[in-house]
Amino acid sequence: MRAMVVEAFGGPEVLHLAEMPAPRPGPGQVRVRVEAAAVNGWDVKTRAGATGAPAPTSPTVPGLEVAGVVDELGEGVQGVAPGDRVVGFAVGGGYAELALTAVFARVPAGLAPTAAVTLPVAAETATRVLRLLDVGPGETLLVHGASGSVGELAVQLAVRRGVRVIGTASPRNHDRVAALGATPTTYGAGLVERVRALAPDGVDAVLDTTGAGVLPDSIALRGGTDRIVTIADDTAAELGVVASWRSERDAGELAEAVDALARGDLATTVGAVLPLADAPHAHELVESGRAGGKVVLVP
Ligand SMILES: NC(=O)c1ccc[n+]([C@@H]2O[C@H](COP(=O)([O-])OP(=O)(O)OC[C@H]3O[C@@H](n4cnc5c(N)ncnc54)[C@H](OP(=O)(O)O)[C@@H]3O)[C@@H](O)[C@H]2O)c1
Repeated sequence: MRAMVVEAFGGPEVLHLAEMPAPRPGPGQVRVRVEAAAVNGWDVKTRAGATGAPAPTSPTVPGLEVAGVVDELGEGVQGVAPGDRVVGFAVGGGYAELALTAVFARVPAGLAPTAAVTLPVAAETATRVLRLLDVGPGETLLVHGASGSVGELAVQLAVRRGVRVIGTASPRNHDRVAALGATPTTYGAGLVERVRALAPDGVDAVLDTTGAGVLPDSIALRGGTDRIVTIADDTAAELGVVASWRSERDAGELAEAVDALARGDLATTVGAVLPLADAPHAHELVESGRAGGKVVLVP
């Protein structure tokens, strides 16, 4: 099968097409003929050697999430059959014609694989951080990066719980953030004053999805480090802020999110759909922070 692989750390150009052995599903896994593979910030950081992981010693396929049609079942898999369309967390890389997944959900008819694939990582992350922040009805949550893939889901899940959300985003994304139910504001200088004007009684919790140096402002707004969580800022430990890195993958929660997306009760944004071989350009887009939504590769 064809796949995009990385054999050394470097810029987007180190991603290249290669012929790789077709993966075989192990116990509990299914193999899918990939219709859509999403690109995440993690893929970019891993390719660049910025995660602390050792350099690849053989061609490695990036990609954390895939949607596609099941073509082979591993031992013990139940409730899904060859020909079913699923979306899930990729095992062993998703930028390929064939990929494995062990935590997956069915994609209802009518939901495009390029839309479904926006969900596994972003929905898991948004659900996990809201659980950590434990925000409830009547409280005010500040989301840094409310227009991003994780941010837009965190906004919607919080609003659904009766939480008032203030979300930072570029001005071009303010209408979209408002449509999700949040009050948009711009990031950058003067943020603390803008948020205080919008929430004179203060914010009860803060989620940073940007890693863009917003923790000091967040601490100022909270009057301390309590109920602030970042998913992207390496300085969190120095500042005494909770960073959440470890995923808690759950097929039932993924299925709920997929069904909500299919019903129109959740919305996600696709920034670009590109051929698999354009993975280097996809990485440039994600790295720029200006993709405008999830970047999706199509084999
Ligand atoms: N820890 C974990 O478990 C975990 C899980 C998933 C993702 N992540 C990480 O979390 C981050 C976000 O992921 P994502 O998929 O949501 O990314 P994304 O879709 O690319 O969103 C990035 C967001 O950052 C905003 N942004 C860009 N520059 C900014 C700045 N200077 N100040 C404030 N906001 C800025 C963008 O807003 P505008 O476009 O409106 O400017 C956009 O909303 C990535 O670093 C990713 O690697 C971590």
